[in-house]
Amino acid sequence: MERIPVLEAMRAHLQSNPLPLHVPGHKMGRGFPAEAAVWLGQALRLDLTELPGLDDLHQPQGPIREAQQLAARAFGSEETYFLVGGSTAGNLAMILTVCRPGETVVIPRNAHKSVHHAVMLAGAKPVYLYPEVDGQFAIPTVIRVEEVRRVLAEHPDARAVLITSPTYQGVCSDISEIAGEVHRHGKLLLVDEAHGAHFPFHEQLPPTAIQSGADLVVQSTHKMLGSLTGTAMLHGKNGRYDRERLRTMLGMVQTSSPSYLMLLSLDAARHQMQTCGRELIDRALQALAHGRREAAAIGELALYQGGPDVCAVDPFKWWIQVRQLGLTGFEAERLLREKRGIFCEMADRDHLLAVFSYADTDKQVSRLLEGLRFLAEVCSRDPAGKRVEHVRPVIARTDFRLEQVMIPKDALQRARRRVKLEAAVGQVAAEPVIPYPPGIPLVLPGERYTAELIAHLQDMKRIGSRFQGTEDAALESVCVLE
Ligand SMILES: Cc1ncc(COP(=O)(O)O)c(C=O)c1O
Repeated sequence: MERIPVLEAMRAHLQSNPLPLHVPGHKMGRGFPAEAAVWLGQALRLDLTELPGLDDLHQPQGPIREAQQLAARAFGSEETYFLVGGSTAGNLAMILTVCRPGETVVIPRNAHKSVHHAVMLAGAKPVYLYPEVDGQFAIPTVIRVEEVRRVLAEHPDARAVLITSPTYQGVCSDISEIAGEVHRHGKLLLVDEAHGAHFPFHEQLPPTAIQSGADLVVQSTHKMLGSLTGTAMLHGKNGRYDRERLRTMLGMVQTSSPSYLMLLSLDAARHQMQTCGRELIDRALQALAHGRREAAAIGELALYQGGPDVCAVDPFKWWIQVRQLGLTGFEAERLLREKRGIFCEMADRDHLLAVFSYADTDKQVSRLLEGLRFLAEVCSRDPAGKRVEHVRPVIARTDFRLEQVMIPKDALQRARRRVKLEAAVGQVAAEPVIPYPPGIPLVLPGERYTAELIAHLQDMKRIGSRFQGTEDAALESVCVLE
């Protein structure tokens, strides 16, 4: 019988009829605001802190250590760390571990903002890998091994290579081939596998980064498995990285008061996958395979299925092209939400992203299919609905190759001024511009604005994209270097 050590320790603590003369101040729920306590119920009794018997995330010797060891076994690593700051904390710690100020690190230009932020905090020099792009579905796809080889040949001094796989849309690169290339050059391979925590638990899912030879891997357990939002795991294998430095960096980027509800949920999510993960995933995969066939028969909808060089596509991610219905992705998202109560992960001009998980069954898949049929019907009834304006490609493009005038960290330190977006042509960015979701920066500090980029940003604004990173969220203006 597999254990759940964090849960067991907490249960034992509650059985001791404790008087909590310690933080948190709500004292096991007694003082918690009543309106919210109604919802949180029993869980509040478990919102504890590092007490004797409950261990310490930053120096684990007891149940947390045991839970992490069990996780390492389940996820195929040599060591696993629980994270309470999401994959964001994992990406920060990984990069800070392998890079010292001024050193070079190779990352995808379309990496999540947490990777770019890590490079800035490390004071490292980023060198970019550019992904392949699927023209029909307008998404970045894989990093090819040839691209890794090209960059490593040009930058033999690089400390490490980081790859994002799977991507937000579930596209997987050939990690084992890339690992071979990176290790031949004597470098470390880090993988942002935020969207792939479920991969170890079913043979029909793509191979995991750890299985494929990566040294350090981050997974958002909360995204595709069942732990609470904000939880993640960092897995290490091969012993090529500095373990002590990794622990130090984790201690620096994570809170000194980790939530036990979060830790408990990580332990339980691992246990759930080990005991019935295959079964749950199998049930969902069958529903999804059937659902995909049905979806393809609705109007002229198209679902992304992969393409050249793509190693695998996660079946839990549906990147649905709705353009053929005469709707933008934004309109389709709004109609599904307002008329059917269906909330998608994201939309862009032509697409919707629906994210399923092991917790979904025929029922949820059917509800989306019904929603998609509704969209097709609305559009065929209302010719005025066919109003997609095919302007320039307005999908968060990742193929801009902007001039890097200085590294992001240096640009962040310089004096800045605010200019109208259209006046930024030729200026050097002082702040990132990050369409959100998916959180991939289009502009990084230190990069030069071009007219083409600004036209693209204006198109994105026009179709309703949201932005992070800028002082002016409406993107009427941007900060550039003095
Ligand atoms: C590829 C990728 N990496 C990292 C992250 C950060 O994950 P978290 O939200 O768990 O911090 C995200 C979040 O969307 C992501 O898409």
